[in-house]
Amino acid sequence: MGTKFEIPFGGRGGGYTQQEIKLISEVASMQGPLTQGPNLKELEKYFVDFQSLGGYAFGTSSCTSAIEIIAELLHAFPGDEVIIPTHTYTSSAYPFVKRGFRPIWADSDPLTRVTTPELLEPLINNRTKAIVIPHLYGYVANISGVCEIAAEHGVPVIEDAAQSIGARINGNRCGSLADFGVFSFHSHKNMTTLGEGGMLWVKDEAIAKLVPLLRHNGHCPFDFKQENYWEPAMGNVDLPILNETPLAPGNYCLGEVQSALGRKLLERIDEVNLTKRTRALSFINALEESDLLEFHREETERHNYHLLAAKVTGNKRNAFIKRMAEIHRIQCVVQYLPLHRYDYYRKLGFAEAITPNAEDFFDNMVSFPFHHSLTDKDFEYVLDCTLESVKCLS
Ligand SMILES: Cc1ncc(COP(=O)(O)O)c(C=O)c1O
Repeated sequence: MGTKFEIPFGGRGGGYTQQEIKLISEVASMQGPLTQGPNLKELEKYFVDFQSLGGYAFGTSSCTSAIEIIAELLHAFPGDEVIIPTHTYTSSAYPFVKRGFRPIWADSDPLTRVTTPELLEPLINNRTKAIVIPHLYGYVANISGVCEIAAEHGVPVIEDAAQSIGARINGNRCGSLADFGVFSFHSHKNMTTLGEGGMLWVKDEAIAKLVPLLRHNGHCPFDFKQENYWEPAMGNVDLPILNETPLAPGNYCLGEVQSALGRKLLERIDEVNLTKRTRALSFINALEESDLLEFHREETERHNYHLLAAKVTGNKRNAFIKRMAEIHRIQCVVQYLPLHRYDYYRKLGFAEAITPNAEDFFDNMVSFPFHHSLTDKDFEYVLDCTLESVKCLS
């Protein structure tokens, strides 16, 4: 304990170029409001073009905010269920849970560590209100297969692309392949808008019209012509009744500096993803002979390798992490405790799950420090120490 790490796990996904820092400073120095301005609009327009599949994009203060908006739009009636893989980050689930949806925990494929249509199908019934598909670690799940099954049951699908921005399947970018897509620009991600930020993508025009109201406190114009702009107030607060219940607003807006930066960062996200994938593949190749570590290898753009994770075989996970930490001062971690094992979900009565693959992977997994801002020297050091630890423990 108290180890001072040479290579810590967390920190920052990536750094900024001089041009990006100049842009931050320029937007911050401009006159005018720092929110609800032209930079947000430009980011949203650019994002739709970047995704290239039509639809509507909304900058949000985080990916969780985007999921909150979707959960509000879907509205839970008593008994409604949402299917969510148990092996994901808690934000994939709790916006639904706190609104009264029952989470039905799905298992993951043991190799790809994301869920599949085959694993989901038996969980669908007439109470299913939505399916959440996280493209975990940056790998795009079989989203067309999921959408096909979901369509048979009239159930909307949400792509949780928090970790997988830019990744493509069959040439199409993930996050615009279902009914909703959400993205994270949090500090750890392959692109970050100064630590926090996110994006909501919506396919349907009628639903998209409701998003600005939900995102910004229910603000809207009055439905009559105001004699004086200040009377009865600068604007109205109203929200439509949906499913016999008024929608509940929040404040989930993305500021102007973050929006301008996000727009700029999208220009080089493919380059960042390529660097990460190239590094991941060279790491995996170098360890090919090892039986101790089992990686998920994907050569195409279907994986952006936001994270580099492996299963440690032979019940040696803890020994491996301990050696990396104590001998080499590299902070590996374990990630994504199956959600049904967290106290929060247990206390709410959602401790039940039949998810053996997810549990086996979590109980034996290791996640390496793999942020984009690792230098080549740091990366080589992590690889060398991994090779040494594997040799020692095999
Ligand atoms: C799969 C997944 N979903 C949602 C989120 C939430 O993202 P944010 O931190 O931007 O709210 C994360 C963040 O790590 C995530 O990994």
